[in-house]
Amino acid sequence: MSPVHATGELLASRKVGAYHHLSVVARGVAEEFRPGTFVAVTVGTPGTSATLAPRPLWIHRVRPVGGHGLALQLVLEVRGAGTRWLAEQPVGARLAVTGPLGRPFALPKEPVACVLVGEGYSAAPLFPLAERLRERGCPVTLLLGAPDESRLLSALEARRSARAVTVVTRDGSVGQRGEIADAVTEVLRRAEAAVVYAAGPEPMLHAVAAAAEAHGAWSQCAVEQPLACATGLCHGCPVPVVGEDGVARTVRACVDGPVFRGDRVRWTELVR
Ligand SMILES: Cc1cc2nc3c(=O)[nH]c(=O)nc-3n(C[C@H](O)[C@H](O)[C@H](O)COP(=O)(O)OP(=O)(O)OC[C@H]3O[C@@H](n4cnc5c(N)ncnc54)[C@H](O)[C@@H]3O)c2cc1C
Ligand code: FES
Repeated sequence: MSPVHATGELLASRKVGAYHHLSVVARGVAEEFRPGTFVAVTVGTPGTSATLAPRPLWIHRVRPVGGHGLALQLVLEVRGAGTRWLAEQPVGARLAVTGPLGRPFALPKEPVACVLVGEGYSAAPLFPLAERLRERGCPVTLLLGAPDESRLLSALEARRSARAVTVVTRDGSVGQRGEIADAVTEVLRRAEAAVVYAAGPEPMLHAVAAAAEAHGAWSQCAVEQPLACATGLCHGCPVPVVGEDGVARTVRACVDGPVFRGDRVRWTELVR
């Protein structure tokens, strides 16, 4: 299925902790959503933004909104000019949205124990993934991390989506104090995990993939490489991997990923 280019409308924009939660109706995009796919949103005033790369954002949820059909729920952390522009858009603003883009998380065929590990806003695609896994009878455990409570995504909702939830924050403001890497091995052991899904910064993904391998579980990691075109044309998002044939090669984060098998990525060679 090719991605849809749509002119979306911003239905809602609200600040929750350190993030902005956006609700965007973009016809045809939400209908094809799979957990792990993302959208590319053009930033800047229409007509003046042609030279700016669109900003990739995870699809957090797809929800029906009365009178509008399905809307995309996005979680935004303001980093630079593009995300700031998006956060400042008024309700009713028109947005150029392309998606869904990328390869989603692969779902297990059997109802096996799954651990979902997410840091900060990057945990966004794990919530709909948890729902899909539960529909398939998989016991789901969530491990969520963040620098502090304001950057912890939907901890309350996590308790509804999973059988068990572990929270770690760097400053100890909620949950255990520390890093995901400190907690992941014990969580995998307790959950008797067969499959591990992770989304977050690369050092965390690397640690989770290594812990999964040591535990004997499959891992799938959603890699956030900065993207230029986000559609596979520019080759500006290289991810070094080992192919199924055992041969090292470089693939594109935006179309060959963003979800990769953790044991296939050559993490130490991944350059941001
Ligand atoms: C597949 C994918 C999904 C993403 N999903 C989300 C999301 O759901 N919510 C969200 O807030 N952000 C998400 N991001 C990150 C977001 O796209 C970037 O933060 C954004 O493009 C930065 O644009 P800017 O103009 O605000 O900042 P810029 O001025 O372009 O950059 C500001 C700072 O952010 C850093 N940065 C740029 N791109 C990334 C990146 N990919 N990861 C980490 N740091 C980056 C830059 O190095 C710089 O230090 C995602 C990125 C990818 C690749
Ligand atoms: S960003 Fe252009 S090919 Fe991936």
